[in-house]
Amino acid sequence: MLILNKTVRVFSKPSKRKIYEFLGSFTFHPGKPFLHKLVLGIETSCDDTAAAVVDETGNVLGEAIHSQTEVHLKTGGIIPPVAQQLHRENIQQIVQEALCASRVSPSELSAIATTIKPGLALSLGVGLSYSLQLVDQLKKPFIPIHHMEAHALTIRLTNNVEFPFLVLLISGGHCLLALVQGVSDFLLLGKSLDIAPGDMFDKVARRLCLRKHPECSTMSGGKAIEHLAKQGNKLHFDLKPPMQHARNCDFSFSGLQNVADKIIKQKEKEEGTETGQILSSAADIAAAVQHTTACHIARRTHRAVLFCQQRGLLPQTNAVLVASGGVASNLYIRKALEIVTSVTQCTLLCPPPRLCTDNGVMIAWNGIERLRAGLGVLHNTEGIRYEPKCPLGVDISKEVGEAAIKVPRLKMKI
Ligand code: KG4
Ligand code: ZN
Repeated sequence: MLILNKTVRVFSKPSKRKIYEFLGSFTFHPGKPFLHKLVLGIETSCDDTAAAVVDETGNVLGEAIHSQTEVHLKTGGIIPPVAQQLHRENIQQIVQEALCASRVSPSELSAIATTIKPGLALSLGVGLSYSLQLVDQLKKPFIPIHHMEAHALTIRLTNNVEFPFLVLLISGGHCLLALVQGVSDFLLLGKSLDIAPGDMFDKVARRLCLRKHPECSTMSGGKAIEHLAKQGNKLHFDLKPPMQHARNCDFSFSGLQNVADKIIKQKEKEEGTETGQILSSAADIAAAVQHTTACHIARRTHRAVLFCQQRGLLPQTNAVLVASGGVASNLYIRKALEIVTSVTQCTLLCPPPRLCTDNGVMIAWNGIERLRAGLGVLHNTEGIRYEPKCPLGVDISKEVGEAAIKVPRLKMKI
């Protein structure tokens, strides 16, 4: 009976009564007028439950996050119903923590912004239904957020960056290059044709059993690869960057994953290691995979910069390339990108690591950007749905391919 009750609690939506109780727990601060617009941002598109309150000038007044990484590392990947359950268990607490830390009472909010696309259906659903109840009870405007738009605009919270700028988003679930011309005005230049680079790193790390490596046991796959690669020789294995003859800005990482898989199998045979044991050549494999990935990402990005410069889509001086997403915290890949920006007279900017990965701040900030621009601020949420798949901006990747820009070979001395 006890178990049944617990299951019901975990799988049911937060009740209206619970939300009322939660809202009632806030004290209004009459003597503290907020001069700026205030947005509560809520993110549940994948495996992080996050919330934040941000003001119009980019001050982060409060934030909270619950990461599911530990749970998913144990199961070897995200199991959507498990992610959904964890979002349901944590969303109220996380929103409450962000609001309490900000010392803003819900009635003072200008709007609530929530990720509704793209992402895991079951995860998006939790954030959306919770937000719609909150919006309904507080009688506040609702701002639906595109997760990738939020990643791309984060740099305008941390740095003084004007439109247009180029953005490279690389993480476990994303891989794209886009020109950001305005708050919701994007030109998609290229994307991964298969998996994202973080996903590839995670798969290679899992195959190398890096969870069992004493130095890497708590790291994500990509971080473990970066860590181990420092001890390895990248030239020990001759891996070729993918798509060398395709003169576009698309990416591919599943071929690299298959080649790494074959090498690991071969080495296991040679070294007589059983599946599950760490190879003596693990660091060399990690270094080679990281180097090849960095070269591939740098080359596609180089072509995107040249395309934009040729078409006059970026300013002649002080053009900015923004790199964000979990994989952009990899310092080796950042150095490869710096080689590109230095030869093309651009500046590379990356948000701080905590804002590169999924977080509530970027959603709240995207809400502020949309509020200021008067874009997509809803006073009626009828018919609003989450969208697991949703492209970003206008796709001009075919045009980029047709331009067939030849990229000069750069010495990747990293
Ligand atoms: O942005 P993020 O937290 O979540 C999404 O995927 O949306 O990125 C997580 C991904 C994982 O695949 C992880 O392995 C990768 O980013 N990652 C890294 C590094 N840190 C995290 N990849 C390469 N080098 C890193 N230092
Ligand atoms: Zn993300």
